[in-house]
Amino acid sequence: MPNDELVRFSITVPEDLLNEFEESYYSENRANRSEAVRNLMRGYISGERWKSNNKKVCATITLVYDHHLPEVTRKLTAAQHDSGEIIICSTHVHLNHSTCLECIITKGLADNIKCFIEALKNIRGVKSLNVNVTSEL
Ligand code: NI
Repeated sequence: MPNDELVRFSITVPEDLLNEFEESYYSENRANRSEAVRNLMRGYISGERWKSNNKKVCATITLVYDHHLPEVTRKLTAAQHDSGEIIICSTHVHLNHSTCLECIITKGLADNIKCFIEALKNIRGVKSLNVNVTSEL
């Protein structure tokens, strides 16, 4: 059961660091100081979970590929069926006559998602692959 009760703590930082932080991140994101620090903590923890391999994360994978190349569509579908337990959903967009964009949302152990990504990268016809990792915190 998650415990989302708020706790207060104080930290000490150099004044220059705080000023620069507030001028850039804090003002740009229009968050209050606590929310800004919470967001940075969440981002850090998601990155650490991703590196750990055995922690749960969510990853959004965006692929661009040439569907005219032989077998690419079949191989992409087969890879997704092989990793069906981590795939939440996917969306396909036809960018132009030959190029497709596919966005695949995954949730599971970082290691399993990384294996799935490696399988996608090995498919000839995949022109780009971007991954955005987050977690439920
Ligand atoms: Ni398409």
